[in-house]
Amino acid sequence: MIKIPSSEITPEHVYLSRRAFMAGAGTLAAGALLAACGVASESPAAPPSGPAPVASKATDELGDPLNSYEQITTYNNFYEFSTDKAGPARMASGFKTSPWEVAVGGLVNKPQTFAMEDLLKQFDQEERIYRLRCVEAWSMVIPWRGFSLSKLLKAVEPKAEAKFVRFETLYDPNQLPGQQDGYFPWPYVEGLRVDEAMHDLTLLATGLYGRDLTPQNGAPIRLAVPWKYGFKSIKSIVKIDLVDTMPTSLWMASSPGEYGFYANVNPDVSHPRWSQSSERRIGELGRHKTLPFNGYADEVASLYAGMDLKLNF
Ligand code: MTE
Repeated sequence: MIKIPSSEITPEHVYLSRRAFMAGAGTLAAGALLAACGVASESPAAPPSGPAPVASKATDELGDPLNSYEQITTYNNFYEFSTDKAGPARMASGFKTSPWEVAVGGLVNKPQTFAMEDLLKQFDQEERIYRLRCVEAWSMVIPWRGFSLSKLLKAVEPKAEAKFVRFETLYDPNQLPGQQDGYFPWPYVEGLRVDEAMHDLTLLATGLYGRDLTPQNGAPIRLAVPWKYGFKSIKSIVKIDLVDTMPTSLWMASSPGEYGFYANVNPDVSHPRWSQSSERRIGELGRHKTLPFNGYADEVASLYAGMDLKLNF
C-alpha cells in the first residue's frame, strides 16, 4: 500500500460530498470537483484479454518510464461512470463502443459523419508516448495510439470564421450513470483554439499500448492534448464542431474560478486549493517537479506568445 502524502489526502467534506454524488443525491459541493487525488487504491486489474500490451519504447523522451497498462487502465477520471479513481474500470466494461460515429461539422465546408472503422482506415494510426498531467497533481506516461486531430480537421475544411473547436462526449444516461446526476451540465464538453487543435501534438487517441482503448480510458476515441491538464483530453467523443466563439467546457461551467479554458500545465499558477508546482507520478513514491507546458514548451509555448498565462489559466 502506497503511503499517501498528507497534502493529497482528501478533506473529509470533499470525501463526503463525493459519496453524496455517487449516491445520486445531486448535492455535490464545489469542493469535490476534481479534487479526488490520492484516495483510490491502485488495485490490480484483471489481466488483459487479447494481444499483449506493447509499446515501442520503455520511456518517454525525458527518460521517464512508461506507466504500466494496469496502472493506466485502473486509475481513471471518467465522471460519467464514477468519481472514484477505481470506479470507471469496474463500471465501464459493458459500455457499448460499436457501432460508433463521430459527427464533424459547424463552420466547415465539408461536414461529415465518420464511422469509427472509417476513421481507423482513413487515418494512419501511430504511437505517441505522452505525459498526462491531471489538474489534481498526479501524472502518468502513456503510449497512445492514434492520429493527429489536424488530419481530421483538414478533411472537413474549416472555414476562415472558425476560431475554436468544440468537442462533446456521448450523452447516454443509461450507459453513463453519472449523467443521471443533475449537478454537472452534461454532456462533457471541451474546447481548443483552432491553432491548438491543428498543432501536430494534438492527438485523437484510439488505443494505448498497441491495443484498442478501454472504455474507462475513453473508448473508442478521445483527445490527448499533452501540454494541457488532463481534463482537456475529453473521452468517448461523438461530436466535433468548428465554431466562432470560445466554447464553455463542463469544468468552466461547473467551477469557473478553478478551471479555465486554456488549462495549460503551469507550475507557477496554483489551483485555488492546491499547488501545481509538483506532481505524483502514479506508481512512484517521490514527486516530480511539474514542467511548464508539461515538458512540451519548445513545441507549444509560441502559441501563447504575448498572453498573460495567469489571467488565461
Ligand atoms: N472525459 C470525460 N468525458 N469525462 C471525464 O470525467 N476526465 C478528464 C479527462 N477526460 C474526463 C474526461 C480528466 S480530469 C482526466 S485527468 C483524464 O480524462 C483522465 O484520463 P485517463 O483516465 O485515461 O487517465
